[in-house]
Amino acid sequence: EDPANLKPRPPVVVVMGHVDHGKTSLLDAIRKTNIQAGEQGGITQHIGASVVKINGKSITFLDTPGHEAFTAMRLRGAMATDIAILVVAADDGVMPQTIEAINHAKAAGVQIIIAINKIDKEGANPERVKQELIEHGLVAEDWGGDTICVPVSAMTREGIDNLLEMVLLVAEVEAYTANPKKPARGTIVEAKLDKGKGPVATVLIQKGTLRVGDPIIAGTSCGRVRAMIDDKGRPLKEAGPSTPVEIQGIDEVPVAGDAFFVARSDKEARTIADKIKAQGRVKLIQNTPQKVTLDDLF
Ligand code: GTP
Ligand code: NA
Ligand code: MG
Repeated sequence: EDPANLKPRPPVVVVMGHVDHGKTSLLDAIRKTNIQAGEQGGITQHIGASVVKINGKSITFLDTPGHEAFTAMRLRGAMATDIAILVVAADDGVMPQTIEAINHAKAAGVQIIIAINKIDKEGANPERVKQELIEHGLVAEDWGGDTICVPVSAMTREGIDNLLEMVLLVAEVEAYTANPKKPARGTIVEAKLDKGKGPVATVLIQKGTLRVGDPIIAGTSCGRVRAMIDDKGRPLKEAGPSTPVEIQGIDEVPVAGDAFFVARSDKEARTIADKIKAQGRVKLIQNTPQKVTLDDLF
């Protein structure tokens, strides 16, 4: 990659952690919306994607489910991202899916920021959480280590600004870039059959620019981008790196976590999709200790 073609892009942040430790509530507090209350049983069952602007700088957030049934989905979420905010409830401490999330973040090679949530609650003990994290190789900065830990409350919004500041700080140091001039490629973060639109997929663009009319392969599906909307439902003609968009025009519902990319023609898209289908989807990486990249998926 010629460095001259690399342009700054927003950080992509995945929010992970044990069930009910407050991932969605934290994102609500960040977005100042109220999604959690509208969820079935208060349980997240998909990866939500949204873009938040802080002091003129964009951050792309992916929400993930904490329920243990969604292990593979969390790993895929981590693999497409730069930073993982690991949410740990201050009254509950490190739990099984907390540990799993730590392992996924490490396997994906992403930077971990700890959000010690629910500090408003009686019985909240942030210092105990830091103690427990040590067993998993994460030592808080004020304990002599290099793991950023921010005490927060999604309920009172205490500490939220600090948390966002830390995200922007890490992003500034890491200076994430991508080439927007290439054909787009990235990861499917969510997919479903919509009654009116047909198969739709929410994709995170990681490299390049995606345009309406592009022939694409998305997992085992293929087609042409017929329409595209951003996370606020606004129609787009094109979208660049770090942008999550919902696309229409694919021929079937793909699997979240699979790769998507632009082909040179409809025919090529069909040929590649058929090949992927014949091989039995793209490789899914499980229990991989080393850093994995999108290219490892094929
Ligand atoms: P899953 O997606 O199902 O894994 O859950 P989650 O981690 O997204 O947690 P969620 O946001 O659904 O919150 C779980 C419960 O904790 C809800 O009842 C929230 O209202 C509550 N909660 C979240 N954050 C806080 C907080 O900072 N303080 C208090 N007191 N309650 C909180
Ligand atoms: Na929940
Ligand atoms: Mg949730």
